[in-house]
This record gives sequence, structure tokens and C-alpha cells, in this order.
Amino acid sequence: MVGITFIAADGGETHIEATSGLSLMENAVANGVDAIEAICGGNAYCGTCRVHVEPKWRPVLGGATEIEEPMIEASGDTDPGVRLSCQIVVRTELDGLVVRTPESQS
Ligand code: FES
Repeated sequence: MVGITFIAADGGETHIEATSGLSLMENAVANGVDAIEAICGGNAYCGTCRVHVEPKWRPVLGGATEIEEPMIEASGDTDPGVRLSCQIVVRTELDGLVVRTPESQS
């Protein structure tokens, strides 16, 4: 399992033990992370699964992909660490990952 922490806009932390091979969004939904609504079911089409990756993890995860960019732009989210969690595949190297969820998803 891969330990991942979500920090909500109000500072509340949720720690989950994520499963490798599933997306970060799928793991969040399965573990009841309320801020990850994921209305489109992981198709990079709704922007309600956005996370803000903590600075030290950005080199590990990389930036938003071409698939993510249009939706992120449409959301108006300009955080430098913004990603769509449905497009991040959990892997063992992500153990200890910390992401924040935007206030608009709280
Ligand atoms: S679940 Fe809709 S964009 Fe990620």
C-alpha cells in the first residue's frame, strides 16, 4: 500500500492507504475523501478531482499532461501544482505523497 495524505482547504488531513495501479482519484473516492467529487468518472472532463501537489512532490509526479491542460485551464485553477487526480496513477514511489484539495471542492 502507498500512504497518501490529502489536506482540505480548512486544513483537515485525511490519510489513506492507496492501491498501486489505480488512479489517485479512484483511491480517494474509495476511501471517502469528500473533496474529490470526480463527477466525470475519470475522463479528464469535469475538473472536480483537482489536487494541488506539494512542491517537493512535483518533480516526482511531473506537471499536468496534455490531456489535463484544457480542463485545468477551464477550471481557472492557477495553482502551480495543480493536477487532475484521475490522471495520476498511484505507484510505490508515491509513498508519503501530500496533496491539497482546492477550496472550490470543499
Ligand atoms: S474525474 Fe473528472 S476530471 Fe478527473
